Amino acid sequence: MNQHERLLIIDFGSQVTQLIARRLRELNVFCEIHPFNKVDDAFLAAFAPKAIIFSGGPSSVFAEGAPMPPAGVFDLGVPILGICYGQQVMMHLLGGKVERGHGTAEFGRAFVTPTTDKLDILDGWFAEGREQVWMSHGDHVSHIAPGFKVFGTSPNAPFAITADPERRFFAVQFHPEVHHTPKGAKLYENFVRLAGFTGDWTMGAYREDAIAKIRAQVGDAKVICGLSGGVDSSVAAVLIHEAIGDQLTCVFVDHGLLRQGEAEQVVTMFRDHYNMPLIHADESDLFLNALEGVSDPEVKRKTIGRLFIDVFQKHAHEVGGATFLAQGTLYPDVIESVSFSGGPSVTIKSHHNVGGLPEKMGMKLVEPLRELFKDEVRALGRELGLPASFIGRHPFPGPGLAIRCPGEITREKLAILRKADAVFIDQIRKHDLYDEIWQAFVALLPVKTVGVMGDGRTYDYACALRAVTSVDGMTADYYPFTHDFLGETATRIINEVQGINRVTYDITSKPPGTIEWE
Ligand code: XMP
Repeated sequence: MNQHERLLIIDFGSQVTQLIARRLRELNVFCEIHPFNKVDDAFLAAFAPKAIIFSGGPSSVFAEGAPMPPAGVFDLGVPILGICYGQQVMMHLLGGKVERGHGTAEFGRAFVTPTTDKLDILDGWFAEGREQVWMSHGDHVSHIAPGFKVFGTSPNAPFAITADPERRFFAVQFHPEVHHTPKGAKLYENFVRLAGFTGDWTMGAYREDAIAKIRAQVGDAKVICGLSGGVDSSVAAVLIHEAIGDQLTCVFVDHGLLRQGEAEQVVTMFRDHYNMPLIHADESDLFLNALEGVSDPEVKRKTIGRLFIDVFQKHAHEVGGATFLAQGTLYPDVIESVSFSGGPSVTIKSHHNVGGLPEKMGMKLVEPLRELFKDEVRALGRELGLPASFIGRHPFPGPGLAIRCPGEITREKLAILRKADAVFIDQIRKHDLYDEIWQAFVALLPVKTVGVMGDGRTYDYACALRAVTSVDGMTADYYPFTHDFLGETATRIINEVQGINRVTYDITSKPPGTIEWE
């Protein structure tokens, strides 16, 4: 098995640390994010990074117990890039000086101009004499550390870019990982090239390693995988199937809350196209009966989560002695974030997953996507030959249409919702907008309204269209459809779907809204 060249990101709690990792992954560099308080000298030795990046963070180096890297970090002889708070940490520890606050605030967009000296990591910068960067900092550096020189300044940050080229230590006041630093990616590219990375992190290489790892972990044991029809569990299943063939059985639970044609699509693809052992558990009666009369969103979610575990457990027995459970867990789910509040965060929604399963069933986990970001999972799916139409599918939540039908769920409402949703998606595809949108769906509202069709009165449901753009589902904005598109879609839904006589468009962003209605 290959040991990839590794870069370590020491996280000091910045909101955008994950973006650093993404920029590096785009350069085919393998990196991991670890919180500062979990990184000691022994960890550094074991991780053996080829380069290190200090993230930004909300702290002040003057604060009691201020986040710091381990003492030995500067003796490893590897290049280090410090960003924002990371820059201050470097100056503070290497003999420079940091001062509280800043004379003139410099948050947001700023322009950096070069000094006369050249610096490798700035190759390709300053073609127009200056570069736009994104600043966001509290304290500021007032004296740079011995051995450092200034390579870029901005009106309010005389030490915007500093470096000790001999030791290959670089420190920038701004955030090169964000979009608003247009040449930021170039800076990272220069940094990893200077550190000697060859770009060995490719999906082809990952696929081979992952297959070898799965085989080594599982041996000749049996594995089961809950298949939701989403991209993550599907890619995990195909990868594991490639590794261990029929030792893997997938269980697809149809809870009666899927979209139009969804169960058939998933089952056909996996059973017929991939020839994968697949249990299609049609448990819609069980779920829909249990949800009868339930209108509270959290009760819905918890009921579905509990039943899902029961059903999965029941069907897993049929497989006969599976000792491993496969899950499509992604890297953002396993990154341990730095918590400064210390307290538990508020539960907005109880997300449905098979989290409780492994302990309950005494199974070990196989999680071959644990190191990947969502876009990398899609790339791996392409590498494994999954159809593009499948890989590009919008996310669909575990509780399915239950949370798109606010209030009580009935089979009649679900049937109406499925039809309206299919028309909306058809419209989006027809207008070639599907790939521009993160997620689009219809929510059927628990209100009936009066309308007039032909010469008659109607008294039918209202629905809301929801379509958002997003990078990771954490924040989102509504999609700016044209009025023509919205008008045409409303007309089609009202004409084609019996039971709906009013269509609205949800223009709430997240926050303050959430993407789903419940
Ligand atoms: P919200 O509604 O919280 O959704 O803004 C963010 C993203 O998560 C999806 N979502 C879920 N996915 N199980 C899932 O697998 C869930 O219980 C669940 N709830 C929301 C949602 O569709 C959106 O993509």
